[in-house]
Amino acid sequence: MSATSGSPWTAPGARLLVTGGAGFIGSQFVRQILARSDGTRITVLDKLTYAGSEANLEPVRADAEQAGRLRFIKGDIADASVVEQLVADADAVVNFAAESHVDRSILDPEAFLVTGVIGVHVLLEACRRESERVSSGLRPSAQRFVQVSTDEVYGSVETGQSLETDALAPRSPYSAAKAAGELLAMSYHVTYGIDVVVTRGSNTYGPYQHPEKLIPLFVTNALQDLPLPLYGDGLQRRDWLHVADHAGAVEHVLRHGVAGEIYNAPAGIELPNREVVRRILEATDRPWSLVRTVEDRPGHDRRYAMDGSKIEALGWRASVGFDDGLARTVEWFRANEAWWRTARSGDWDAYYARQYGARLAESRATEAG
Ligand code: NAD
Ligand code: TYD
Repeated sequence: MSATSGSPWTAPGARLLVTGGAGFIGSQFVRQILARSDGTRITVLDKLTYAGSEANLEPVRADAEQAGRLRFIKGDIADASVVEQLVADADAVVNFAAESHVDRSILDPEAFLVTGVIGVHVLLEACRRESERVSSGLRPSAQRFVQVSTDEVYGSVETGQSLETDALAPRSPYSAAKAAGELLAMSYHVTYGIDVVVTRGSNTYGPYQHPEKLIPLFVTNALQDLPLPLYGDGLQRRDWLHVADHAGAVEHVLRHGVAGEIYNAPAGIELPNREVVRRILEATDRPWSLVRTVEDRPGHDRRYAMDGSKIEALGWRASVGFDDGLARTVEWFRANEAWWRTARSGDWDAYYARQYGARLAESRATEAG
């Protein structure tokens, strides 16, 4: 029997508050759960930053039965006046909300801290109030809080694989804010007895990913025959997790994770960036000559790799292979040009010029492979 079977968040008709549920991974989680039609009801709280879009929840809205179990609230997790009632109404809170792009955290770190630290604090305070209501008999049962974190909290891992017990050594404002958020969440477990679980997923890719990240950027640039800006020597290594697997891991930990525990969620698909780019070009039928070597990201983490034994012992492992996952992702981007053109509008040109303008002006061709 799982550690949490019989809990309200695993029961039919469970009420989940999914923060950041209009973003890439959060919306996959919402679509995946509601499509099962098992009675689960979801409230999405999302600020709709440049990275979030209600269009990501369209497949839910297109189905009347699923749409009836979704409530969407536009708002900020750092705003206690919005968060309090939504947390009070939930059996579990699953927090995906974050500023999520390392390069933007290097350009403008503050928003990362406001959402990643203050926002998490506001959510946890609301959970603390609910746990006091349980103690005083005003609420029938405790809640669970799932903090969606990342392998980047371990910092650059030159050799071996990170274990959940390893020291945290984040090296970018993004990963430092994520580390702070999960440490805060765990402190509420220890200090106030809140039921907290943490997931650390690896680099994620798939449909609906904002085109600022490596794979969707290179796919959408390749489809337009634009240059592909490869940082430094391109030999940095990442472990590539399909978004359906990432959402599945978070749900598995929500249902079966043990309170106070942290779970790595790796794919076990470690590739150097150059190899990822080679496969993107193959899948889009474009030449290597599109690739440009550009100035490296400051403090660029060389490698992430995690040990997945703990979550495997809990009964989860990734199932999507990279070639299959990438082929389906490229197919999705080909078929959803309107979606990615919208994502590449608004502040996109200004961001692109700031991040890549000088880099591309000084770029050079690079050998294949
Ligand atoms: P994303 O940027 O696509 O989505 C983030 C969502 O959060 C957006 O919808 C945005 O509008 C919302 N948001 C941001 N600030 C908010 C706030 N203050 N209040 C409410 N909503 C807010 O990010 P993603 O790639 O889907 O990542 C989701 C989570 O998973 C993040 O916590 C991220 O750190 C973590 N993660 C991502 C990856 C990855 O490779 N993408 C890997 C591991 C972990
Ligand atoms: P990214 O998708 O930003 O994820 P993360 O930084 O969280 O790992 O980047 C993945 C890898 O690709 C990382 O090593 C940086 C590299 N990269 C480039 O070489 N060029 C780019 O334009 C981007 C966005 C990333």
